[in-house]
Amino acid sequence: MGAGKTTVGEEVARRLQRPFHELDREIEAAHGSIWELFAEQGESAFRELEARFVRDVCGRRNPAVIAVGGGAVETRRLLHELGVFVVLLDVDVDTAWARVRGSRRPLARDEEEFRKRYVARRPLYEDVADARAVDADGVVLAAAGIRFAPHVDAAGDALVADEHVAALHGVEATHLVTGGEPAKTVAEAERLWRALDLDRSSTLVALGGGSTTDLAGFVAATYLRGIDWIAVPSTLVGQVDAAIGGKVGIDLPEGKNLAGAFHWPAATVIDTELLETLPDEELRNGRAEVVKTGLLSGEPLWELERGEQVRRCAAFKAAVCLADPLDRGVRAQLNLGHTFAHALEAGSGYRIPHGRAVALGLLAALRLSGLEDETSTVEALLSPEPVEVDRERAWTALGRDKKASGGRIALVLLDGPGRPVVTAEIEPERVRAALDSLIA
Ligand SMILES: NC(=O)c1ccc[n+]([C@@H]2O[C@H](COP(=O)([O-])OP(=O)(O)OC[C@H]3O[C@@H](n4cnc5c(N)ncnc54)[C@H](O)[C@@H]3O)[C@@H](O)[C@H]2O)c1
Repeated sequence: MGAGKTTVGEEVARRLQRPFHELDREIEAAHGSIWELFAEQGESAFRELEARFVRDVCGRRNPAVIAVGGGAVETRRLLHELGVFVVLLDVDVDTAWARVRGSRRPLARDEEEFRKRYVARRPLYEDVADARAVDADGVVLAAAGIRFAPHVDAAGDALVADEHVAALHGVEATHLVTGGEPAKTVAEAERLWRALDLDRSSTLVALGGGSTTDLAGFVAATYLRGIDWIAVPSTLVGQVDAAIGGKVGIDLPEGKNLAGAFHWPAATVIDTELLETLPDEELRNGRAEVVKTGLLSGEPLWELERGEQVRRCAAFKAAVCLADPLDRGVRAQLNLGHTFAHALEAGSGYRIPHGRAVALGLLAALRLSGLEDETSTVEALLSPEPVEVDRERAWTALGRDKKASGGRIALVLLDGPGRPVVTAEIEPERVRAALDSLIA
């Protein structure tokens, strides 16, 4: 009580686009005030109703976010039996009491009783919890299997690591791969498939940037028709983007990421200390994704210190991907600026850094959105400079981009900070002009 279940639960449900059930509120709506229920029929009658509601809500096909106290044995047993993912909202007793004192809640009238109950229930809650969190970001991260911990905490049966990262951080890996895009090939995937000596219950750990986690995740998705894997991202791009959301894949000579799968990692372990050795160029690539995330969330996440910045960005992407795991809806927003970025990369024969292309892509998207302040923000934060690329190749690539539809190019724009829209309304001439303005 007083942990913030309703506030946090509503926020998590909104982000995951799931229905929200606040059990106390629903019981009150159906059976009158809990206070009177307690007074007239006693606590056990209330607990019975609570258990019935839990069973009913969890039995529905559509997954939901539920705010429930775990005070009753019956409730805890049910949550466990029904396979509900349980997050304990951590709150200290003083904060909890300050929130509930003076309310009409039956169990919040006597401070001493309240404190005793807190101490008595604590181990019961801990026993039923799969994870703990203090806020909505924490709940989303836990639900996505993402935790912040030292990279050595990621334990599995085989470790595929970027050889550069392994050397820098003194990690002994079972399988080394070269870092960077050239690793994402059929040949590298085949080499790993053939070298792995695992069974179907094994877990593969992948340590490295997005290239390594994309490759190793794809190998995990396909080896023995799919084994568990744990992503340990070592770049800023990996920690705020690539290691989250379950997209894995490799490149073909015909294009990037043309063979792949959706294979959500069993866990993602984020250790921001790994970033200490990251070269500036790679940090810049990550910063472009951080700025994109801030624009999509409507908050200046780029202003936060590194640890909190990564946590907030990771939670944002995780929520969007949990809401749309197979990329059929809201996940499209993550392409903000990327349609232009991919076109510039293709137009340059993939010679320009991804971060530079994304910075320019964001600029074009914001200009087309008519958002002057945000355009200036991107200019100030990422200093995007026009690049020399083949104009016609870039334009052709933009038209071919998988987001092209019905002869018009579907673009992600912003109605305002935090309000992404996918639109095919922009005339091709304006899209072309926006692209041209990015090219030196
Ligand atoms: N699956 C997804 O949802 C998703 C999303 C975004 C990007 N990606 C993919 O991610 C890839 C890009 O990943 P990236 O930007 O993380 O780079 P990367 O994995 O290609 O690594 C870039 C360079 O940084 C080095 N490096 C990595 N970690 C380091 C560290 N801690 N210290 C020093 N050097 C380090 C690598 O050895 C490499 O040379 C692309 O292939 C892209 O398609 C995938």
